[in-house]
This record gives sequence, C-alpha cells and structure tokens, in this order.
Amino acid sequence: MLGKLLITSLAVMGAANAQRNPCSATSTTVESQADLDALQSCTTLAGDLVLGTNLVIATINGIRTIRGDLIAANCVDLQQLTAPELSSIEGKFNMTSLTVLNQLNFNSLRSVGEIYWQTLPALSNLGLAAQVTQAARVTITDTILESLSGINLVTTQRFNINNNRYLKEVKVQLTNITDSLAIEFNSPSVEASFPNLTWANNATFRSCGSVELPSLAVVNGSLGFFENTIETLSAPKLTAVGTGTEGGDITFANNDALVNVSMPQLQTIFGTLQFVNDSNVKEITGFPELSVVHGSIDISGDFENATFPSIRDIRGGFNLQTTAEFDCSEEFDRYEGSIVKGKYVCEGVVTNPGTEGTDPTKNGGSGSNKKSSAGKFTVNKSFAALPALALFAAFVL
Ligand SMILES: *[C@@H]1O[C@H](CO)[C@@H](O)[C@H](O)[C@H]1NC(C)=O
Ligand SMILES: *[C@@H]1O[C@H](CO)[C@@H](O)[C@H](O)[C@H]1NC(C)=O
Ligand SMILES: *[C@@H]1O[C@H](CO)[C@@H](O)[C@H](O)[C@H]1NC(C)=O
Ligand SMILES: *[C@@H]1O[C@H](CO)[C@@H](O)[C@H](O)[C@H]1NC(C)=O
Ligand SMILES: *[C@@H]1O[C@H](CO)[C@@H](O)[C@H](O)[C@H]1NC(C)=O
Ligand SMILES: *[C@@H]1O[C@H](CO)[C@@H](O)[C@H](O)[C@H]1NC(C)=O
Ligand SMILES: *[C@@H]1O[C@H](CO)[C@@H](O)[C@H](O)[C@H]1NC(C)=O
Ligand SMILES: *[C@@H]1O[C@H](CO)[C@@H](O)[C@H](O)[C@H]1NC(C)=O
Ligand SMILES: *[C@@H]1O[C@H](CO)[C@@H](O)[C@H](O)[C@H]1NC(C)=O
Repeated sequence: MLGKLLITSLAVMGAANAQRNPCSATSTTVESQADLDALQSCTTLAGDLVLGTNLVIATINGIRTIRGDLIAANCVDLQQLTAPELSSIEGKFNMTSLTVLNQLNFNSLRSVGEIYWQTLPALSNLGLAAQVTQAARVTITDTILESLSGINLVTTQRFNINNNRYLKEVKVQLTNITDSLAIEFNSPSVEASFPNLTWANNATFRSCGSVELPSLAVVNGSLGFFENTIETLSAPKLTAVGTGTEGGDITFANNDALVNVSMPQLQTIFGTLQFVNDSNVKEITGFPELSVVHGSIDISGDFENATFPSIRDIRGGFNLQTTAEFDCSEEFDRYEGSIVKGKYVCEGVVTNPGTEGTDPTKNGGSGSNKKSSAGKFTVNKSFAALPALALFAAFVL
C-alpha cells in the first residue's frame, strides 16, 4: 500500500514536473494536435518526440531542435506532417509504416542524426526546402519517392537507398561515405550519380540503370555491381580497392547489359577481381595499370579479349573461363607459377564458364587448349572422350 502510494505520488510529481517543464522530458508522446501545441514554447525539446497513432494532420510548431528522436511509426491515419521551424533532429528521424502519409513539410530542416524512413507507400515527394546537409546515416527503403531532392549531404557514414520503386535518380554531392553505400532494388532505370564522391568504405550497386563515379579515388572495403542494366562503368580516378587487413573485392555479377568497364588508374586490389555472368562483356581490357591483386583474378563469361598489361603479382589464383575462342598462351600462360601464386586456370570454348574453383572440363570445356588457342584448336586423341556438349561447342565455334 505504502509502495503504491509512493509510486503514485512519484508519478504525480513527475507529471507536475513535466507540466512545469514539458521541454525537458526524456520522451513525449503526443496523441493530438493539442498535445503538440502544448510543446509550442519549447524551442528545444530535450528528449524524444513520439507521434501517437491517432494523428491525421500533425503540425509541430515552435520547436527548432529535438535533442532526441522524432518517431512516427505505425501512424496509419497520418496524412500530413509539418514542422515549419524545426531545423535539427539530433537523434533519429524515424518514419516507419506511415501508409497514408502524403505530405511532408520540414522546410527548415538541415541537420539530422539519422534518417530512417521505411514503408512510406504514399509519399512521393520530400518537403525539405532548406535541404538536409548533415545526417550521419541515411536509410530510405520501400517508399514511392521519385527523387531525393532535399537531401544534400557532403559526408555520411551510411547511405542506403533500397526498394524505392519509383526512384529514378540518386544524385548527391557526398564526398565521403565512411561506412557503406548501397543503392539497390529501386526503379530499374535509377541513375546513381555521385559526382563528388572521392572515398567510400564499401559500395554496392544493384539494379541501377547507370552509375557515375567520376571522382572516386579509394574504396576501403568492396565495390560491387550486381544485376544492373548499366552498359558502361567508368571509375577514372580509382586507384585502390580494399585494405591489407580486410581485403576488398571488385565484383561485376549478372550485369546483362554491361559492355565496357574502364578503371584506367586502378593499381591495387586487396581482394579479388571478379566478372561473372556479364554476358555482353566482350573484352576485359579496362585495367591497364592493375599491378597487384592480393586475392584472385576470377573472370568467367563470354569475352573474347582480356588483358592486364601491368600485372606483376596475383597472390591468389587466376581463373579465366570463357565461351569464346581464347588464346591463353598470348598473355596468361606465363603467369602460372610466377605472377600467380595460387591455382592457374585459363580456358576458352567452355560451354558454361565457371568461377574460381570450378574445373573448365566439367563446365563443358575441352581441357585441351591450356597451352594453345582454342581458335587454333587441333584434334586431340582424348577428344573422343569429351562430353557430347563440349564436342558440339567445339565444332560450332
Ligand atoms: C522506428 O520506430 C519504431 C517504433 O518505435 C521501432 O519499432 C523501430 O525499431 C524504429 N526503427 C529504427 C531504425 O530505429
Ligand atoms: C574524406 O576522406 C578523406 C580520406 O580519409 C579525408 O582526407 C577527407 O578529409 C575527408 N573529407 C571529408 C569532407 O570528410
Ligand atoms: C561537387 O562538385 C561540383 C562540380 O565539380 C562542385 O561545383 C561542387 O561544389 C562540389 N560539391 C562539394 C560539396 O564538394
Ligand atoms: C560490402 O560490399 C559488398 C560488395 O559490394 C557487399 O556484398 C557487402 O554486403 C557489403 N558489406 C557491407 C557491410 O555493406
Ligand atoms: C581506409 O584505408 C586506409 C588505408 O589502409 C586506412 O589508413 C584508413 O584508416 C581506412 N579507413 C577506415 C575507415 O577503415
Ligand atoms: C570503354 O570505355 C573507355 C573509357 O570510357 C573508352 O576509352 C573505350 O573506348 C571504351 N571501349 C569500348 C569497347 O567501348
Ligand atoms: C551465374 O548464372 C548461373 C546461371 O544462371 C547461376 O546459376 C549462377 O548462380 C550465377 N552466378 C552468380 C555468381 O550469380
Ligand atoms: C585485346 O585488347 C588489347 C588492348 O585493348 C588490344 O591491343 C588487342 O588488339 C585486343 N585483341 C583482340 C584479339 O581483340
Ligand atoms: C590432349 O588432351 C589431354 C587431356 O585433356 C591433355 O593432357 C593433352 O595435353 C592434350 N594434348 C594436346 C596436344 O593438346
């Protein structure tokens, strides 16, 4: 009984305290516009502001800074959210599952600790007139946003834009992304453009229509391109990918439209360079300065030409398997045992070219052109023992 009384009186005291100074509460949940208006005099709100699930049109008047988070989650009736004076949210700006939200007006907002927006199926435009120029992390997923105009960051830790099916352009002035960059599963033609990006820790591009990285100089982690519809990828300033301790790969996988990759200044890859299932890549000749690969070179596909004229050290393996006729002896056979420290495989006229670790003879290769050109294919005694499919491929080509 005494305990209960104590708790009650503490609660009363707490409430009285909050009433005296609503601006300093660690968390305030508002259920109505009247609740929001009661906070009008708070230029700075010390804690979190949580929007209740009954709000339909909500206006945050008066508040300029929220020291904590601004959370609007599962407010299924919320249609409009406005905060004319709010310029800074130091914590998270969390908007999650706001199924009918169609207007956002945060026209003074410049700085956010973390943008986390998920499942906003009715919001096609951002109302961020002042532009958000600072956000340590940005995740925008499952929205119908058509553009990210209003988000204009220079540096951030994480920039993850995925599953926004109407998003046609991601163009930001980011210069550094210290943790990860991921543009994935947006509109299939999305143009990803990072004109000022010089340094990224880890970058992944998936299902993009174009990727522009004209200033990118260093990637500390991995750089990956998956299932894009890009035709050309050029990273003219890129010099190194990965670090000695963590590795770091460059991967091109399943980019059906890709024709040309050019990384004219790339010298070092701390992990593996891989091309796999890029059916329109006919030449892999865009790495003229590549000299050291700490992992492997693993290229499989339909290419007719591949050259690495500056290569001097491949610490892992070398795997080249292509459906095309390919003369390994012209450049690559000399790599075996000297430049390549791991396993060496090079073969043309392979029906189903495979990645490192697969045996080209099991992928429909003849196994006989190791030291000679498939083009100069000569009938070998063991030819008769070849699988029918490989035989067929050999005759067709
Ligand atoms: C956003 O807020 C909701 C409700 O509080 C919470 O469940 C969710 O985990 C939050 N998301 C993030 C990324 O903090
Ligand atoms: C970006 O990263 C580079 C390399 O770490 C650093 O020299 C530069 O100062 C950073 N730029 C900004 C704007 O943070
Ligand atoms: C980005 O690059 C453009 C063109 O080079 C330049 O005008 C702009 O000032 C740069 N922005 C930043 C933030 O560096
Ligand atoms: C780093 O990038 C690679 C390739 O782009 C990707 O597979 C991996 O998931 C990324 N890791 C992180 C932590 O973002
Ligand atoms: C990036 O790599 C460079 C060179 O290895 C290293 O000096 C730097 O600390 C790394 N940065 C991060 C954030 O890992
Ligand atoms: C590939 O791109 C580079 C640089 O953009 C260009 O110089 C080269 O001619 C292109 N090659 C092909 C085959 O398109
Ligand atoms: C390449 O394509 C084949 C056949 O579609 C598929 O089985 C394989 O998983 C793909 N490889 C990669 C690395 O995506
Ligand atoms: C392969 O590419 C190199 C460099 O671009 C070029 O010099 C050579 O003529 C090409 N060879 C064939 C057979 O296309
Ligand atoms: C014939 O094929 C066998 C088995 O694939 C191979 O070991 C041998 O070197 C080939 N001979 C010639 C002349 O290509």
